Amino acid sequence: MGKSVSKKNKKPAPKAHANSAANAKSAPSQKLNEAQIAVHWREEESLQPQASFIAQANLVDSAVVDSFSEEHFPECFAQYADLLDWDQYWHTTLDTSKPPFWKWFVGGKLNVSYNCVDRHLADHKNKAAFIFVPEPEHEAPQVLTYRELYVRVNETAAMLRDFAGLKAGDRVTIHMPMIPELPVTMLACARLGVVHSVVFGGFSGEACGTRAADSGSRVLIYADGYWRNGKWIDHKGNADIAIEHAKKEGQEIDKVLVWRRYPGKTSSEAPMIIGRDFFVDEILQNYRGKIVAPVSLDAEAPLFLMYTSGTTGKPKGCQHRTGGYLAYVTGTSKYYQDIHPNDVYWCMADIGWITGHSYIVYGPLALAATSVLYEGVPQFPDAGRPWRIAERLDVNIFHTSPTAIRMLRKAGGDEPKKYNYHFKHMTTVGEPIEPEVWRWYYEVVGKKEAAIVDTWWQTETGGFLCTTKPALDPMKPGSAGPPALGIYPIIWDEEGKEVRAGSGAAGNICIRNPWPGIMQTIWGSPERFVTQYYKKYNKDPQSKDWRDWPYYAADGAVLAADGYYRILGRVDDVINVAGHRLGTKEVESACLTLPEVAEAAVVPAVDDIKGRVPVVYVSLKPGIAPTKQMQDKVTATIETIIGKIARPKTIHIVSDMPKTRSGKIMRRVLAAISNQMDTGDITTLANPDIVEQIRIQVQGRSRGPVKEGPEDIKMFGDER
Ligand code: WTA
Repeated sequence: MGKSVSKKNKKPAPKAHANSAANAKSAPSQKLNEAQIAVHWREEESLQPQASFIAQANLVDSAVVDSFSEEHFPECFAQYADLLDWDQYWHTTLDTSKPPFWKWFVGGKLNVSYNCVDRHLADHKNKAAFIFVPEPEHEAPQVLTYRELYVRVNETAAMLRDFAGLKAGDRVTIHMPMIPELPVTMLACARLGVVHSVVFGGFSGEACGTRAADSGSRVLIYADGYWRNGKWIDHKGNADIAIEHAKKEGQEIDKVLVWRRYPGKTSSEAPMIIGRDFFVDEILQNYRGKIVAPVSLDAEAPLFLMYTSGTTGKPKGCQHRTGGYLAYVTGTSKYYQDIHPNDVYWCMADIGWITGHSYIVYGPLALAATSVLYEGVPQFPDAGRPWRIAERLDVNIFHTSPTAIRMLRKAGGDEPKKYNYHFKHMTTVGEPIEPEVWRWYYEVVGKKEAAIVDTWWQTETGGFLCTTKPALDPMKPGSAGPPALGIYPIIWDEEGKEVRAGSGAAGNICIRNPWPGIMQTIWGSPERFVTQYYKKYNKDPQSKDWRDWPYYAADGAVLAADGYYRILGRVDDVINVAGHRLGTKEVESACLTLPEVAEAAVVPAVDDIKGRVPVVYVSLKPGIAPTKQMQDKVTATIETIIGKIARPKTIHIVSDMPKTRSGKIMRRVLAAISNQMDTGDITTLANPDIVEQIRIQVQGRSRGPVKEGPEDIKMFGDER
């Protein structure tokens, strides 16, 4: 069950917004509505986009905005679908006959790779689709034109079909870094209707194996290695671990296709298994110049799976559809990323996350954009790197996360001033951004010239849900803004009562309507799809009316009087680390694989750069000593099972966990201790004394000042 905003507020609400209605109720009261978490930000000033930006923007016509109002739903989304080339036009825009398994553009047929590549050849064959920037600065950028992309996608598709035996509907797992061969492989899959599941390169081999097994992939696609932070990462060995692990979970993998970062040269120490592992550059020799007709696919055919963390230990495969997804990311790339034919667009996300799928690969390519693809980390070899890339390639649209912005600000707050680049537009995505960080982004990175969009959305939602319309809406630091076109959000409290605009209270943000970018289902778990996202606010499971099936996002939010949404963070057991989702249960399960560990609890702690980081509490089985070696073992286990991104900030070995009388671990109390916050009422615990003991262990004997703490930590997961 998803936790909700309300649960944690078993104590009186903290300070309320200065002019909020909730203020009146902020006196301590046990009866206080639990969802009435008061927020205490001051209202930020609004900033207007530059006239020069407005003059060239794609979305300036208020008639377009009006055409997406609720009375025009769902037909309004035909405007997005009309940006694509269809082999066969659809007959029904939205089919709601089996809620919440919506169908979009029913009867339509199209091919994603045709829309992202082939159709641009007539006008743009010599235009750069990607400019690949290797991390080592002495390696020159490499340009991939649309024509070259076409050739490579076709050859790769021929190899996948004729050598690997893949066909429409098969799943394939791709575990690759940020090199051009990654989008080439994805597009080759899309050309055939093969469902790709890209696993973020930084995940461990074991995490890849689990995902490959869940998706039923029998082919893995790898890279031998890549550059990251000045180091060569030997990646191929992860494939061997993945295969072994998938086998344990019942999935045989019979082929591994390995792209070499330097074709013709062996750069990985992992052995190649004869008959199973193949270097792609060698196999492709047999497919030179081959053309594969794009398979005409049903609009509802699955395009890809993207695994993400949820409230259970097992990551879930969000299944995205062909027509609706491509339409949604194309429309939102046009209006919110403001991509024009002559722009140079750089989204610094990794393609292994949803941002990369939607806003590096599919949306921008459907618009024939020129995108920068950067292999490495932003601050390598120094914090001036992104601005040197921007200057050299004349990037004018820039897209990144608050974690990257915080890091670049800390490592080189004045660096952007040294470079002569000009951004017309910038994006922040993935986590809440602090207003002062936003202002540095605006003033120093954007030189007060760029329009900024703060886009709120999720792996599940395919594309943006809340964002300002860059030429039409003022920017407000720290707020995502109004809903995206055709999205009708609402905030409810636990009882389903609407939390009104300007009330200063927070609640659970939901989207009342379906939209084309929403996932189709969870791969192999349709029941989980319904319970996770729709059950909470559905009043009539028999209803065929979409109005009865609001999408529950598991984020807390506040709606200001001006209609701007401010996203507070997750209200379930997910920690947003550097903009990446980590399930606390996943990390706990990893700890519990160690025979010495009796219990494990993972909580978020505030971090200046990454936003939140996991802190691990473990108790050991009787007779096991709480040593440094034991702590290291827990860290190593987490890195093996999930990957380095899950590495905890601290591991506390405690003698016991704070528990309810029914024996459930009180994670909320541990989160409060790790963040110097008030632990609230602990008198009802089975073992209240342990709380002070753990507090001293973590904070030292003298208690520091108790902090107010951010909302998401106040909201953090209770006993489960
Ligand atoms: C958070 C990333 C505040 C949110 C696209 C959501 C944000 C989770 C924002 C999804 C934003 C995303 N402001 N919080 N602009 N964008 N989030 O699935 O908690 O990796 O639920 O998708 O990130 O993360 P995911």
